[in-house]
Amino acid sequence: MDYRHLGRSGLKVSELSFGSWVTFHDQVDVAAATDCMAAAYDAGVNFFDNAEVYARGKSEEVMGAALKNLGWRRSSYVISTKFFWGLYYGPNESHTLNRKRLFEGIHGSLERLQLDYVDLIFCHRADPTTPIEETVWAMHNIIEQGKALYWGTSEWSAGEIVAAIEIAERHHLHKPVMEQPQYNMLTRERFEKEYVRLFKDYGYGATIWSPLASGLLTGKYNNGIPANSRAALKGYEWLHEHFTNPDALLKVKALQTLASDFGYTIAQMALAWCLKNPNVSTVITGASRVEQVRENMKAVDVVERLTPDVLAQIEAILDNKPKMDAD
Ligand SMILES: NC(=O)c1ccc[n+]([C@@H]2O[C@H](COP(=O)([O-])OP(=O)(O)OC[C@H]3O[C@@H](n4cnc5c(N)ncnc54)[C@H](OP(=O)(O)O)[C@@H]3O)[C@@H](O)[C@H]2O)c1
Repeated sequence: MDYRHLGRSGLKVSELSFGSWVTFHDQVDVAAATDCMAAAYDAGVNFFDNAEVYARGKSEEVMGAALKNLGWRRSSYVISTKFFWGLYYGPNESHTLNRKRLFEGIHGSLERLQLDYVDLIFCHRADPTTPIEETVWAMHNIIEQGKALYWGTSEWSAGEIVAAIEIAERHHLHKPVMEQPQYNMLTRERFEKEYVRLFKDYGYGATIWSPLASGLLTGKYNNGIPANSRAALKGYEWLHEHFTNPDALLKVKALQTLASDFGYTIAQMALAWCLKNPNVSTVITGASRVEQVRENMKAVDVVERLTPDVLAQIEAILDNKPKMDAD
């Protein structure tokens, strides 16, 4: 496992990391979470991603209990959480990045995770109703209070991110240092186009999500929706269209053939493909069982096997032509 700087910050994160969206609490209990995190950590993962909204707080509780079981040195791992949607529906409890919500958010997360501080906090979406200046000050103050170490954004527009950086610079506050965007073989536009100047000019870090397009890039949906998959879970019906998209499935089948010709799995190829992009600080993987963690961690060995020739073959299958990196 290699470690990359999180943007221009001094923090090093493992190139593959592990997140808990959908899985923790709803598919994975504390014992299974402990096993999955241990398998990831043993493979060199040092960053574990969470959010207060995942399973409405229960995902943080599961991760907190797993961390207690694992008893790792606190300095050996990085934990994140995120705020925006909240856990309740009151006027200052949901869909906001106002100062009150962010302070109450961090207090709740620390309690559920059973930690004194988290390493990273993200504004989980942009909030057009709160001045960016208020959010920047609140994130700065949370860091100054020692409750978090770095802050960042998730799925903000490049313009909103630059506005936050400039406000922080003007007032000598802690700047946001990383984005958390979706990036995978099937979703590339924003990462490869809109964000390019953020990486180049501001050294913004990127902790990318859904590198397997929620599992589509494993080939498991090639013949319909398997009973034990994410798509079959109650509450995730909104993903069905994504998992049954004929154009995407054609690409997945061709990618799967290519990967098996080279002797690795399509999941490993898809994760390694993300790692080829130098603007990626870490690829956040997800898994509902420990065997998936083990398979996915081996993607680090596939990176160097994705030669220019193989990448060109992948590009021909994807046929959506953006460049591979920012240069
Ligand atoms: N900031 C944001 O807005 C945002 C949004 C989404 C996610 N995230 C973060 O990114 C992390 C990763 O996202 P993700 O879970 O969507 O990642 P993903 O890698 O696209 O999908 C992971 C899911 O695919 C299936 N899978 C994984 N490896 C597999 C394998 N080798 N073989 C077969 N199936 C496999 C599993 O689902 P099943 O076994 O259940 O089918 C697993 O839960 C999340 O945990 C979260 O931390 C952030």
